Amino acid sequence: MTDSRIPTVRLGEGGPEVGVQGLGCMGMSFAYGPTDAEASRATLERALELGVTLYDTADAYGAGENERFLSPFFRAHRDEVVIATKFALSIPPDDPTKRIIRNDPPYIRQAVEASLERLGVDVIDLYYMHRRDVHVPIEETVGTMAELVREGKVKHLGLSEVTADELRAAQAVHPIAAVQSEWSLFSRDIEAKVVPAARELGVALVPYSPLGRGFLTGGFVQAEQDLTEDDVRRTHPRFQGENATANAALLEPIRTVAKAHDVSLAQVALAWVQQRAAVHGLAVVPIPGTRKPGRVEENVGAAGVVLSGEELASLEPIAGQVVGTRYPDMSFASAGRE
Ligand SMILES: NC(=O)c1ccc[n+]([C@@H]2O[C@H](COP(=O)([O-])OP(=O)(O)OC[C@H]3O[C@@H](n4cnc5c(N)ncnc54)[C@H](OP(=O)(O)O)[C@@H]3O)[C@@H](O)[C@H]2O)c1
Repeated sequence: MTDSRIPTVRLGEGGPEVGVQGLGCMGMSFAYGPTDAEASRATLERALELGVTLYDTADAYGAGENERFLSPFFRAHRDEVVIATKFALSIPPDDPTKRIIRNDPPYIRQAVEASLERLGVDVIDLYYMHRRDVHVPIEETVGTMAELVREGKVKHLGLSEVTADELRAAQAVHPIAAVQSEWSLFSRDIEAKVVPAARELGVALVPYSPLGRGFLTGGFVQAEQDLTEDDVRRTHPRFQGENATANAALLEPIRTVAKAHDVSLAQVALAWVQQRAAVHGLAVVPIPGTRKPGRVEENVGAAGVVLSGEELASLEPIAGQVVGTRYPDMSFASAGRE
């Protein structure tokens, strides 16, 4: 490892060692408007050069399309990358507003085989339950995931958007390497219960949407005006109408800190998430999503930005003032079940 590469950290006790920042690959195929395969491929290669090793996808991202897109990159760099994918969620092609969640053993077995085939690899490094189906006991779901580990199809287990109680019950069945949940200057609900439970259990946190889905970079304000029709962010209450206007005003303290360090808003947002590791005493590996090589350089650069106690204090009130929920239906998130 050369000096220009980011430091590494372990995901959970016995989990994989990864660069302190990962890469969210969802937008390369799905959810955030027009995609550009060539720029996305260059982004993946640049990320790897900079020491990013954790690459995040899911079977739900474009109904398998994202896993298929990433396959050549993963195969070309199999020993250097940690492949994280997920099961549980599907979006019916005839109704893109609908979400089907399944955690039952036959579904998991079918999902893992399909992901392995699309990814074109023999084993998944980190396999997450993407969303919780409350009709299936979590012990049964994690029990099946543990069987996949024993069978050599999966190396490590993760859970996304689980409550602290669900995490505890899961960890009693099999070691969990990471919890992936939304965590950013705008979304801090997991700090109440999930983060303390993860610290207590030795589980790492992988914050998704650490840039508030791009809103924290100042890249858009009114989703309906600023984003294309197929962009899922148009359905998120906090990016709509008066909510979006009020929330955009909350970026001011981030701008002030960015100016003082001569860095971008994105870098301040990422430095803040990264510093949660020291604040809460656990491993934290954010996975900002980008499809642009220049932005991956910028985002990785945030690993070297250290915010002072005074600066952290100036950013502290932001999340409490955000107007609008992070999903149209909060039962989709752990906070909706706590
Ligand atoms: N477990 C879950 O339920 C869940 C849910 C959502 C997401 N995720 C995962 O988390 C990853 C990251 O989350 P996310 O993509 O939703 O949100 P995010 O990382 O908070 O933000 C991504 C958005 O910010 C833009 N962006 C990235 N870097 C930037 C920079 N330096 N300057 C300006 N704009 C920048 C991206 O645009 P460009 O791409 O055009 O650069 C994209 O629109 C996803 O890719 C996915 O793998 C998981």
